[in-house]
Amino acid sequence: MESKQKTVLLGVTGCIAAYKACEVLRLLQKADVNVKVVMTPSGAEFVTPTTFRALSQNEVAVEAIADANTPIHHISLAQEPDVFLIAPATANTINKLAAGIADNLLTTTALATEAPIIIAPAMNVHMWRDPSTQAALEVLRSRGIEIIAPEVGYLACGDIGEGKLATVEDIAERTLVELNRCRDLEGKTMLITAGPTREYLDPVRFISSPSSGLTGYLIAGEAARRGADVYLVSGPCELPDPFDVNTIRITSAEEMFAACNQIFDEKHPNAAIFSAAVADFRPATIAEQKLKKGTDLPATAAQGEPSGETGATSQAAVYSLDLIANPDILYSISQRKGDCFVVGFAAESENIIENGMAKLHAKGADMIIANDVSNPEIGFATEDNRWQLLSESGAEDTGTQSKRALAGVLLDKVASRIN
Ligand code: CTP
Repeated sequence: MESKQKTVLLGVTGCIAAYKACEVLRLLQKADVNVKVVMTPSGAEFVTPTTFRALSQNEVAVEAIADANTPIHHISLAQEPDVFLIAPATANTINKLAAGIADNLLTTTALATEAPIIIAPAMNVHMWRDPSTQAALEVLRSRGIEIIAPEVGYLACGDIGEGKLATVEDIAERTLVELNRCRDLEGKTMLITAGPTREYLDPVRFISSPSSGLTGYLIAGEAARRGADVYLVSGPCELPDPFDVNTIRITSAEEMFAACNQIFDEKHPNAAIFSAAVADFRPATIAEQKLKKGTDLPATAAQGEPSGETGATSQAAVYSLDLIANPDILYSISQRKGDCFVVGFAAESENIIENGMAKLHAKGADMIIANDVSNPEIGFATEDNRWQLLSESGAEDTGTQSKRALAGVLLDKVASRIN
């Protein structure tokens, strides 16, 4: 049976990047998507509706009352699309959407539609950074609207900074992902860990890692969009709570361990994905007051004495810290996993597959995602990564992909194992 052609409503607002919406439209059409266009009146000043009418082979909506045959135009427009993509979206439109203002056909349709909304902002760097724009984006994100972040670049106004519309390829790809998203995790519960942990030695110092948490947050957000009930246990990181995800913020490995055990016992997850960069050790004691050099932290095997007014040492003094092992959350849950499909990560710098396979067996997980941390182009704080998916049936190389795309690849695997 042929599947029904999908429709994207493309919203174009008044911005110099409006011409790029023509390219987005073409890319979507190439993927067999029917594109309809709605423009704000100022959008129509930048590219004429005639251009979009010719490209889309559909009528273009600009005015609130179009003609006598479609008396409630914004309602019919709102009901039609599978996705409403606003690209480019100006600061003005973004701020209006966050406030629920419906003063033109585009904003009225956004308020009336039940289709998923994706926004690709484009504006001057100062308008982008303005607290009201950032607050509006936060509101929209918290309502499940997907924001395709603008890039840093040379802007039309001559400034350099963030505000440049994301690439047309990226916008089209993210729209197609939304269009083709399946709800294959409906009714499933998932436990996910993300981010670093912090192991304090005194009120101001801690042991941690530079993990941004991004991979785990992307997996959690995508799992929720695919219908799962997701519990994300996150160490300290700057990312906002993903939409529709139960996010539990913790600080230390012991707190992460306790939260995971509680969720595991109470929610009986169908799958657990441990992406957190958990500190393997913590200081044996946590001082209540800030530790002072020399008194609280004596140099145990000083090779040099502090010298000069700065207190700098000629040869560094050696301090030592007693550390104790943290609980291994992945190992511990794997030992009692039952039907839960357990996935862990392995950061390796050599013999990726061999070391990853050894970790699969040592931890007792169902799958280990091994990645090469010796390659600076992938891994920590980068956009892309390349994974080896290791299980009893062997290794599967994902190739280099965006972390977002990899989250989808992993969830495909998980869904095939728990459905
Ligand atoms: N992990 C965990 N609890 C810990 C340590 C690690 O749940 N206390 C999980 C991580 O979330 C990850 C996997 O175990 O899924 C990583 O295992 P680990 O043994 O820490 O491997 P590496 O970080 O790769 O370090 P090493 O090779 O030094 O063992």
